[in-house]
Amino acid sequence: MYTSRPIDSSASSPRIQLQCKGPNGSGPEWVPLKQDWSERWCTLPDRFTEDYAIRIHDFETRDSDVFVVTFMKAGTTWMQELAWLLLNKMDYETAKSSYAMHRSVFLEESAVNPAVPDSISLCNKMKGNPRLIKSHLPAQLLPPQLWKQGRKIIYMARNPKDIVVSQYHFLTGFGFWQGSLDEFVDDFVADKVSFTSYWAHVIDFYRMRDEENIFFVTYEEMSRNLGDVIKRLSLFLGCKELSENEMDKLINHLSFKNMKESKFGNPTGLMKTYRKIGDDFQFMRRGIVGSFKDELSSEGKEKIDQLTYTFLKEYGLTESDIFGEV
Ligand code: A3P
Repeated sequence: MYTSRPIDSSASSPRIQLQCKGPNGSGPEWVPLKQDWSERWCTLPDRFTEDYAIRIHDFETRDSDVFVVTFMKAGTTWMQELAWLLLNKMDYETAKSSYAMHRSVFLEESAVNPAVPDSISLCNKMKGNPRLIKSHLPAQLLPPQLWKQGRKIIYMARNPKDIVVSQYHFLTGFGFWQGSLDEFVDDFVADKVSFTSYWAHVIDFYRMRDEENIFFVTYEEMSRNLGDVIKRLSLFLGCKELSENEMDKLINHLSFKNMKESKFGNPTGLMKTYRKIGDDFQFMRRGIVGSFKDELSSEGKEKIDQLTYTFLKEYGLTESDIFGEV
């Protein structure tokens, strides 16, 4: 049901591309999207074997599960903190004394980060109710039960140029990337970076954004009007309406400054326990929309804009239809 092929990439560890052919060979019929799935290959570390894909395929979900699905560096941790608090009756005591990454497990992390134990088993054993599970997998590689059982999915997207810059700093800090930012852009637009194709990842969820079990939101919307996103998400999750005071407190808790300064809101310390990373590594880096503007070269911007234009024209969309002006 899953087919992989090796690819050349400049990343420090080998990459493969994985496709889901589905039981009839015509793709994952459980995803509510009709398209030619033979075009959908996802680039992953080679630890993500076909057997690993089958383990994810067989993952048992629970009625109350909520999934946070994103492309890497789209603001996942920010959303995990928000969704976890809403789902756990604003339990700030626990939120301020434990990492979001521990309260909300990353389903396929053991295929991405050799330093962590079997993350699929960790999710199976998670006691929290509801479980908030994170994944960077595209629609076709997520466990079919999400679709068959209509599990709630929060999909968070972020514009590709800021993703590239954020990912470059993150992977460089971890020693997973040794080249320049321009070289990273080349790998990104050639779908050689983990979880690419970026646009296939985003557009499939964008097109499913009206499904009852999908909450589609962008980092840009969160940055522009966090209060509005909180209200809409709270409704989607079936949580009680927040009072004005509760809302102010939550917005303050989720601010970049507050999360960066808080021991558990900022996972930099936790990440330094995974492997030896430089003292200047900062997970909470800039936290803005448009950091690409003073970091990407004009060639880099052009290459990503070209990728965007080519991919989106097939759908009659532009980047600003999804993210607004960035
Ligand atoms: P930058 O590198 O652009 O600063 P993820 O959690 O998916 O890995 O995403 C990390 C990105 O989200 C980083 O982007 C990080 O700074 C940003 N981020 C995390 N918490 C945030 C917050 N409270 N407000 C704004 N951005 C936040």
